[in-house]
Amino acid sequence: MGSLTAPKIAILGLGAVGQMLLYRLKATGAEPLALPRYQNSLPEQLHFIDRCDEGHEYAPIAALPEQLDALIVCTKAHQVVEAITPYWDSLRPDCVIVLCHNGLGPHLELQPKLAPNQSLLLATTSRGALRHDKYRVEQTGTGAQDIGLWCGPALNPELEAKLAQLFEVSEFAPNIEESVWAKLVVNCAINPLTAIHNCRNGELADTRYRETLLSLVSEVSQVAQMQGFNLRFKDCYARVLTVIHLTAENYSSMHQDVHLKRGSEIDAITGYVCRMGAELGVDTPVNQEIWDKVRRLERLGF
Ligand SMILES: NC(=O)c1ccc[n+]([C@@H]2O[C@H](COP(=O)([O-])OP(=O)(O)OC[C@H]3O[C@@H](n4cnc5c(N)ncnc54)[C@H](OP(=O)(O)O)[C@@H]3O)[C@@H](O)[C@H]2O)c1
Repeated sequence: MGSLTAPKIAILGLGAVGQMLLYRLKATGAEPLALPRYQNSLPEQLHFIDRCDEGHEYAPIAALPEQLDALIVCTKAHQVVEAITPYWDSLRPDCVIVLCHNGLGPHLELQPKLAPNQSLLLATTSRGALRHDKYRVEQTGTGAQDIGLWCGPALNPELEAKLAQLFEVSEFAPNIEESVWAKLVVNCAINPLTAIHNCRNGELADTRYRETLLSLVSEVSQVAQMQGFNLRFKDCYARVLTVIHLTAENYSSMHQDVHLKRGSEIDAITGYVCRMGAELGVDTPVNQEIWDKVRRLERLGF
């Protein structure tokens, strides 16, 4: 990438988060580059409604994969590999891949496919984005975002600065996997329980959920600690309670996915923790039970 040309960054997965980030690309002065589902064309217009309730119409620009400096994948976790595969051979071997989804797992699937000088980044967002229809997305909440290098060489400073600007962070997270695990603990506690009990996040503050929440958080923080992440049970549990209170009126994404009979991200959230626990010799019986229950619900519905 020449220093006189702005980095070319594109979005793959034009859902709620993908369109929110695509608009942000445009707002930071970059071209709103996107890759469509393979062989489909991009829509002529997208509509983004910001936090001030202001609407913005704009035209996405089709990206050429071979010209990209970075590709941000904004599908759900279980869609990542399928979404990126048709483009993989056209991307430059030094094109930076950024995965922006809840849960973990796809990074391990992509790692062996990376070229020797290719970097893989993880990113998280806690900003709410709502898809009113296919091409109209509203940002419904504010919240922390994070991005950082998971593997591969450090990025050139210009690209790193642009990605930091896009995610509105002052610098890359020094240990992004730990940051993702901090979010994973919250997702493991709140998302499956709201799906199983068909309730809003706030209902989990009721004392009858206390014991299950304590067990879920304790198991996840033990698996995280076995991997060397500094996630103490007490802090994790406090964070879960805070999110329950701050998002009391919300239905979690997993509740909605199960309710609408779409595939949920349970395998990348609870499932990932159980698989890691098994590898590391940490028992996760309560998470295992919850994983089984949500998978059953996905098949049978409420
Ligand atoms: N929405 C939020 O408020 C929010 C907040 C924090 C984190 N997250 C996380 O962010 C991730 C994305 O969530 P989301 O709400 O944006 O989901 P979403 O609205 O369902 O968006 C996913 C997008 O990926 C596209 N896609 C699926 N398979 C594809 C493929 N093979 N090729 C190309 N595109 C493909 C979908 O296409 P179609 O349009 O054709 O279905 C859809 O546009 C999830 O992990 C979610 O948990 C979401």
